[in-house]
Amino acid sequence: MEKTRSVIRGVGHNVPTQVVTNNDLAKFMDTSDEWIVERTGIRERRFVEPGTTTSDLALPAVQMACERAGVEPRDCDMIIAATLSPDYFFPGIGTVLQSKLAMNHVPALDLRAQCSGLIYGLATADAYIRAGMGKRILLVCSEVQSPILELSNRGRDMAVLFGDGAGALVIEAQPCLNGETPSSKNSVRGIIDSAMGSDGSGAQQLFLKAPGSTTKGFLTQESLDSGDIHPKMDGRVVFKNAVTRMLEVATTVLERNGVSPGEIDLVLPHQANLRINDAVREKLGVSQERVFNNIQKYGNTTAATIPICMSEAVEQGKLKEGNLVLTLAFGAGFTWGCNLIRW
Ligand code: ACO
Repeated sequence: MEKTRSVIRGVGHNVPTQVVTNNDLAKFMDTSDEWIVERTGIRERRFVEPGTTTSDLALPAVQMACERAGVEPRDCDMIIAATLSPDYFFPGIGTVLQSKLAMNHVPALDLRAQCSGLIYGLATADAYIRAGMGKRILLVCSEVQSPILELSNRGRDMAVLFGDGAGALVIEAQPCLNGETPSSKNSVRGIIDSAMGSDGSGAQQLFLKAPGSTTKGFLTQESLDSGDIHPKMDGRVVFKNAVTRMLEVATTVLERNGVSPGEIDLVLPHQANLRINDAVREKLGVSQERVFNNIQKYGNTTAATIPICMSEAVEQGKLKEGNLVLTLAFGAGFTWGCNLIRW
């Protein structure tokens, strides 16, 4: 059988128009622009207007990705959707998008890997394509997180970090001419390698408890009163784990592909905290201009951060065909991972 590779043909993004600055948040809680910028790098984020769903937010991102790929959504034969903030508790947004995009009755798979959603999604799409089970896959990463944040003193540690946003990718099967697969040593486009990991002992270090089956009654008045319906995090534990795991997985993938950090054209890291990304960049030995960050404008949009970075990097001419690209993420679960891509 002829070998197949997975090529990212188009990437798009969409963020809400409503800008929420740090000073805007300071009207609801004891915080300051200085505290937030110093600890995270975030200056503002976007919140949807009430009523906009996660699948709604994704639609323009899908449209942009498809236009850049020169295809229609209905030309895709599978949907992979990554989100922690779906329209409904179930079903996931994959099926909702299938209907809203008037796609054929293709398989729709929702992934729950939180901030690592893009990494897990790309690895899954690549595996399906290389197994001959998909020819053109739509990967959608979308989050509407503003409604689950607690905009008060009790919730301020989490509320200042997150925003809403969406990204989408069209990933296509292409033949490997003369059996040559994408690698760090040639110019063949496609996903070269992916690695992922998880550690569920950290589940309660970064989580949203209710609704869920650990709550008797699934969602109770007590869950509402105690704040269990809002995300909780042990920030310091998450910070340390994020730096360690991202460094570890990036080193593994670079070493097994014979890539030195200086050969990477662009790192697209998850946008949780500028200090995390700076620490990883420094330890990895990559120069500052080769790391794309936009957390300053959007905060942490969870699964959507990396595709938004990708799409903006393409628009700004910082991500070009032939570049060697490393994605990198850590998030709730815990989950982590990276993809090495010849763009
Ligand atoms: N404004 C002002 N003060 C605040 C705020 C706020 N918004 N939030 C907390 N504080 C206070 C705390 O109460 C504490 O006060 P105290 O010293 O009197 O007790 C003080 O500020 C310091 O708080 P720390 O939590 O120690 O601050 P830290 O320097 O650790 O920074 C932060 C917190 C930014 C959350 C950091 O720990 C972090 O970025 N962690 C990792 C985040 C991350 O990577 N998340 C993963 C992805 S998310 C996902 O997967 C869904």
